[in-house]
Amino acid sequence: MTSKELEHLLASKTNEFRLNNKDKLVEPSKFANQIGSTQLENIPYVKQLEIKKEALLSLFKNIVQEDILSDFDIISSPKITEYRFKAEFVASFNPKFEPINRLGQRKKGNFNWVIDLDEYILIDKAIFNKIRRVYDYSLSLGLNSYDLKKQIGDLRYLTVKHYQDQSMLIITSYNKDKRFNEVIDFAIKQGFNSVYWLVNNSLHDSFEGKISKFEGQEYLKINIHFNNKIFMFLAGPFTFFQNNIFGFQKLLEYIDSILIKFNTAQLNLYDLYCGVGVLGISLANKFKSVKGIEIVQDSIDLAIQNQKLNKINNADFKCFDIKNLVLPKDTDSVTIVDPPRTGLEDKGVSNVLDISSKYVIYVSCNPITLAYDIQKLSNQYKIIDLKAFDMFPQTYHIECLCILERY
Ligand SMILES: C[S@@+](CC[C@H](N)C(=O)[O-])C[C@H]1O[C@@H](n2cnc3c(N)ncnc32)[C@H](O)[C@@H]1O
Repeated sequence: MTSKELEHLLASKTNEFRLNNKDKLVEPSKFANQIGSTQLENIPYVKQLEIKKEALLSLFKNIVQEDILSDFDIISSPKITEYRFKAEFVASFNPKFEPINRLGQRKKGNFNWVIDLDEYILIDKAIFNKIRRVYDYSLSLGLNSYDLKKQIGDLRYLTVKHYQDQSMLIITSYNKDKRFNEVIDFAIKQGFNSVYWLVNNSLHDSFEGKISKFEGQEYLKINIHFNNKIFMFLAGPFTFFQNNIFGFQKLLEYIDSILIKFNTAQLNLYDLYCGVGVLGISLANKFKSVKGIEIVQDSIDLAIQNQKLNKINNADFKCFDIKNLVLPKDTDSVTIVDPPRTGLEDKGVSNVLDISSKYVIYVSCNPITLAYDIQKLSNQYKIIDLKAFDMFPQTYHIECLCILERY
């Protein structure tokens, strides 16, 4: 099955439910069906889980053994709205249509059209309102949003990272207009702990750019509750962090419940695609040593700081592209992989096979690449557990966890 086929399957199951159960539908938000990111809105949450579970069973049916599939389940998210850690909002200028300055998300199927949002159900409401106030303030100063076609304008993106009482606003502009200093001051007064001003004057349409200034805290301080402890992680503007931290804590607890059975005290842990070290650091006390590998230097710098903050002495984090890496054979080990949506790709698979760990724990945000990769691993590994975690309620996205044991 391809990503498109999985999406069509999810869409057809969702539409069938909508057609046959009009009385059971829940009230959608104002922008449901316009923006592309909340495809399951108005479907009752229990049904969303059922639809995702059925679609995954079809995907894995000829790939995973029957006994594992009969035990397959999807674990719900503790929060089904306002759960996202990060959200990007496009600032767009189009003089032909009112409002000419818009802040929001791209219309489903039309990259050039931005829906001007005054609510967004996937992030904290109070935080969204603050972002909107910052945007309106920038307009009141005479700053314009960016016209992608003509490549003119001032503001390109407002991006937020937020969890509990910690929030970071990233302002991405096209130019270095001095009025952005006033926007930063305003954002700090709105209560953002950290405000970054990035400049992106390239054709590449992204919130990322060169840091022009930051005010407040350099990093967010995220507390993860796990094993009756609180782990603290620093997260920066360019570093990955789990997007549903509420759901991630459930995933971490589940991984822990599996590791307890493996007697890991004398094993090494390879944390591949480690980001700022969340998995490796949270699990470090259960292992002899931890080796974390990640391609983004900023993430590795923070992983090293996070290790110190959490008083972990048996971990080592290094910046490498997994695709260019030769890892030593270490049969007394467990490997965790948590790759981006592209999956391990062939080189990542062969690296995992080279390590020859007793167990591989595969955390995946893309069931399609997971399905592909586990088939490649299956010569040397058998699947001993497969679960889905609904880290992205209201959307078609699904997180999966697959545990493999070496033959
Ligand atoms: C889904 S995130 C997982 C991060 C981390 N495990 C966590 O829980 O926060 C994937 C990570 O893989 C990193 N990455 C992507 N391609 C990579 C590669 N070729 N080599 C090493 N790391 C890579 C990304 O920068 C990102 O931090």
